[in-house]
Amino acid sequence: MTGSDPLRLAILISGRGSNMAAIARACAEGRINAHVGLVISERPGVAGLDTARALGIETRTVAWPGAAERLQFERELDAALAAAQPDVIILAGFMRILSQQFVAARAGRILNIHPSLLPKYRGLHTHRRVLEAGDRVHGASVHFVTAELDGGPLILQSRVAVRPGDSEDTLTARVHATEYIIYPRAIGWLADGRLAWRDDRPWLDGKPLTAPVVEDFP
Ligand code: GRF
Repeated sequence: MTGSDPLRLAILISGRGSNMAAIARACAEGRINAHVGLVISERPGVAGLDTARALGIETRTVAWPGAAERLQFERELDAALAAAQPDVIILAGFMRILSQQFVAARAGRILNIHPSLLPKYRGLHTHRRVLEAGDRVHGASVHFVTAELDGGPLILQSRVAVRPGDSEDTLTARVHATEYIIYPRAIGWLADGRLAWRDDRPWLDGKPLTAPVVEDFP
């Protein structure tokens, strides 16, 4: 811990919010020098909102009105975020694509986690697609968000062996468990100033980060 002010986080969710909870617990337990000031869901009534409230976190719902109204949605999101003044916005199971303008205005200040070893398997149903392809390894990726879907610079990946007999459920559960470790870890690097965004790219420990740090899990 650095003794500096905690990194202020706002977390955007769409559903269960288990990554959000893992990050909030890492903050509350002092494992990372960060604080979750606000959780916003784009879907009303999801379990993640209850979890956030139970953790004592302020919540808001900014309901997704449909793709045609995305700019209106982002204006409301912006207003909701303005009160919390986050240093960093954390996408955690947030199922909407943010506009180029929204993302560009916050370059280096939005993180996402995606359940695959990006650049493989952008988009949905990653675990099923990995099994169908017969891949031997799978995992999850923490990355900075750019306007390109699941395409921003990679920070940290968990690598998980696909086991013979794995089903979509068992593989999903194993990858998910690693997300709860790597997402708080990457946020902790930001909070400690080890990870930074300069000259339109990520830096780790004073060097340009040209490839993600990869951590192996059983
Ligand atoms: C996670 O698998 C994450 O990688 C993906 O969406 C899922 C969210 O799960 N982006 P949860 O809402 O955090 O439980």
